[in-house]
Amino acid sequence: MSKPNIKNNEKKEKLITSLLDQMTLEEKVGQLYQTAIMGEFDYGPAFEKNNVSVLIKEGKLGSMIGPYDNQVSMKLQKIAVEHSRLGIPLMFCNDIIHGCRTGFPVNIAMSGSFNPELVKKSAEVIAFETSHSGTHVTFAPMLDIVRDPRWGRVVESPGEDPHLGSVMADAWVSGFQGEDPSDGNHIASCAKHFVAYGAAEAGREYNTVDISERMLRNIYLKPFKQAVDSGVKMVMSAFNVYDGVPMTANKFLLDDVLRKEMGFDSVIVSDYTSTEEIMNHKIAKNKEEVAEKCLNATLDIEMISTSFLKHLPELAQHSPKILDQINASCKRVLGLKYDLGLFDKPYKNMYPKFEDYFLLPESRHMSLQMALESAVLLENKTHILPLDKTQKIALIGPFSTTNRLVGPWGGKARNEDCVTFYEGLSKVFDHVMVSEGSKLKEMTEDMISDAVKIAREADVVILALGEDQYESGEANSKTNISLSDAQYELVKAVNEVNKRIVAVIFSGRPLILTPLIPYVDGLLYAWFLGTETGHALADLLSGSKNPSGRLAMTFPRHQGQIPLYYNHMKTGRPLDPINHPHNHYTSRYLDSVNTPLYPFGYGLSYSTFEHTDIKVSRDVFENGTLEVILDVKNTSDHAGYDVIQLYIEALHFSVTRPVNELKAFNKVYLKPHETKQLTFELTMDDFKAYGYPMHYSTESASYLIKLGNNSNDIFYTHQIQLKEGI
Ligand code: BGC
Repeated sequence: MSKPNIKNNEKKEKLITSLLDQMTLEEKVGQLYQTAIMGEFDYGPAFEKNNVSVLIKEGKLGSMIGPYDNQVSMKLQKIAVEHSRLGIPLMFCNDIIHGCRTGFPVNIAMSGSFNPELVKKSAEVIAFETSHSGTHVTFAPMLDIVRDPRWGRVVESPGEDPHLGSVMADAWVSGFQGEDPSDGNHIASCAKHFVAYGAAEAGREYNTVDISERMLRNIYLKPFKQAVDSGVKMVMSAFNVYDGVPMTANKFLLDDVLRKEMGFDSVIVSDYTSTEEIMNHKIAKNKEEVAEKCLNATLDIEMISTSFLKHLPELAQHSPKILDQINASCKRVLGLKYDLGLFDKPYKNMYPKFEDYFLLPESRHMSLQMALESAVLLENKTHILPLDKTQKIALIGPFSTTNRLVGPWGGKARNEDCVTFYEGLSKVFDHVMVSEGSKLKEMTEDMISDAVKIAREADVVILALGEDQYESGEANSKTNISLSDAQYELVKAVNEVNKRIVAVIFSGRPLILTPLIPYVDGLLYAWFLGTETGHALADLLSGSKNPSGRLAMTFPRHQGQIPLYYNHMKTGRPLDPINHPHNHYTSRYLDSVNTPLYPFGYGLSYSTFEHTDIKVSRDVFENGTLEVILDVKNTSDHAGYDVIQLYIEALHFSVTRPVNELKAFNKVYLKPHETKQLTFELTMDDFKAYGYPMHYSTESASYLIKLGNNSNDIFYTHQIQLKEGI
């Protein structure tokens, strides 16, 4: 992140102080209001109806969501700069979540690449396209830890693990913002949704959240803390309540924890109308109370709702405290505009031909690299994969020829730019037949018999199955997360005539795949891979590239196991599945094993690896670190990536802690038969947790250090004793 520049800071302070001296109360409150002009509304009735231009002229609007069109941005910015009294520029924000115009894989898939360097480079490409289309802030990354795949927004998240989430938080924030978000190629980043939105009860969108403060601190806050440490410029408050108080009005979490404990000193924005929704929670009677409570919680910008705009000026007349809070918030918003370079260059990058910066070959190349490392190989029975390019392939299923591959929250990415599965395969394989076989949720006899016909003629069948891209994302919770009956009809019919089946699954969430497994030899989880989908899948299936993605979220066997996540707490009556699998009074189900279908961190490769010479450098900390060293050998003829994961387990602590906690990982590329030495470095901080009372420490405790291929497959364990708790 950028180093503090004292001269620049003085200039900034001077400019902002002088502006604050000149601004009326209404103008200050105006900086705290954000409205939206999007899509069909550009130039449309909403533009006139909302009197946006009048508000800008009067200095009563500080920032906007959208527009997606620079002609409109220019027009609006001109009003702000040339026709408002003080000429304060507008700040344009957008939801650029996993790609601007070049579509990248959805976030949960990118997280599963376990490759933060590549995610950072992807974020740089996304920032480049975004910045050159006149947007200043992206509402990303989404850093909600998730444990319930019924919730549609798992697709936007970094997954279920706080360490992986934190590593990805740093990659996204530093990629978006660069050294200096004003440099024209970068943008400001907004970490969202603060906090615990991912713990919505029953996976139902916008539902209540009720978790302990210890859980909040040990799990949910971690990626946000990292985002703050990485210099994130904005944080968005979440829709949910925490401990009965809606996040947008939650002074304890916004002010005491985010600002004072974590040291966040920039802008907090509400979520879409989440301010006035506190009236639905019945903690505010009217909009005056909404304004007072949210401002008091140190919220700076109100998104869409107008309680601040309408009521703060009046409230401030009678309350010096409110006036001070308005000044503080306005100062933070102006500070961010300054950091974005908007006072010097309000029209920066607002080219009429902004599309020239989109979909550049190098951007598509980066999206392809990311897609190659995001897909996860889940099954490879009989070594059916990789496929020989001369084999006769039957590509069957609702995702064979569709271009609906961007995924939810696709920014400006378009389906038309996506390389379909069929296009990709046809370029690489000599003989590809194709048949849709079924729609996502329905099929006809004719469709199935068409598919069966080509399946019969083929050497191998590839089934392209899944959920539509808009079955995950915001407000897309589901109670049934299995493949549809229509798709199972297709699978069974095809399996009758050809047993050599590879399924490729498209979805924004972990689906329940248990009934599919007996029908397939190969299984590749594609998630949604974006613009380069077809190319990436063809490279992976043909073996010119080797799958290396891992699951950032546990895949349950049955819906009834949800929530199921690897870092669960211990129970007083654990099941011993090997020696006493039928012990009745243990923590288990009558009708299912406890384990998932695929655990967190799981993913196969065409290579095989051997791990030898594993050493823990010392059992106690010296100079604050401890090293774990090992040799990794690729024992196969395929070049490929190994992803070694380091977990710890506290064996004695004042509160119960998870069975495994990921603390480090190493993704390493090895040529056939190559060996490399790897070193993991752990610090004291990696062993700390909030114990009892609420104190962050290692405590004086014994720990296991474990190395694994995933959270369930541990190949090395070593016990250490920390001498002194800190
Ligand atoms: C979503 C946010 C998003 C905002 C602005 C809300 O509905 O929860 O994630 O940034 O809209 O589009």
